[in-house]
Amino acid sequence: MLRSLLYVSTSTLSLPHDGWQVDEIVKFSRRFNAMANITGALMFTETNFAQFLEGPGEHVYALLEKISGDTRHANIDVIMERETELRLFPDWSMAYSGPHLFVAGQFSAFAMPSGQGERDRAAQHLIETMAVLVRGAGPNYH
Ligand SMILES: Cc1cc2nc3c(=O)[nH]c(=O)nc-3n(C[C@H](O)[C@H](O)[C@H](O)COP(=O)(O)O)c2cc1C
Repeated sequence: MLRSLLYVSTSTLSLPHDGWQVDEIVKFSRRFNAMANITGALMFTETNFAQFLEGPGEHVYALLEKISGDTRHANIDVIMERETELRLFPDWSMAYSGPHLFVAGQFSAFAMPSGQGERDRAAQHLIETMAVLVRGAGPNYH
């Protein structure tokens, strides 16, 4: 069984000055995640990150701990965790999509106090959006 999780966080980067940092994160992640057998997707909306991670549980949680200590974002909120057999992003050590202002609205569901059912639905919707965005071909997706 593999472990997958989705978190959202608030970016502390100040754009456009710090924009290069996102490229650094993606570049570093692709190398590291490939070694750790972790796949997933990262989305950036200029104010928030959302990241889906999947792989062996101990690797995923060790990575989450490292990521949680990264000062380039704050308020890390794990909104979905589950066991899974199949990877959603088997071909991506870290697919990247962003910045997407039109998905920014989806983050508000996690910012407001809401019931668990509502959070679960919003998390599922966000994962589906990430899957569509990063698997689709287009100038913003690489
Ligand atoms: C939003 C966000 C997502 C990140 N995702 C990953 C990731 O998937 N894999 C990874 O190795 N590092 C990721 N990082 C970078 C780590 O936080 C950390 O900087 C990197 O692992 C290097 O850590 P080290 O210098 O302690 O080795 C991410 C950072 C941020 C801010």
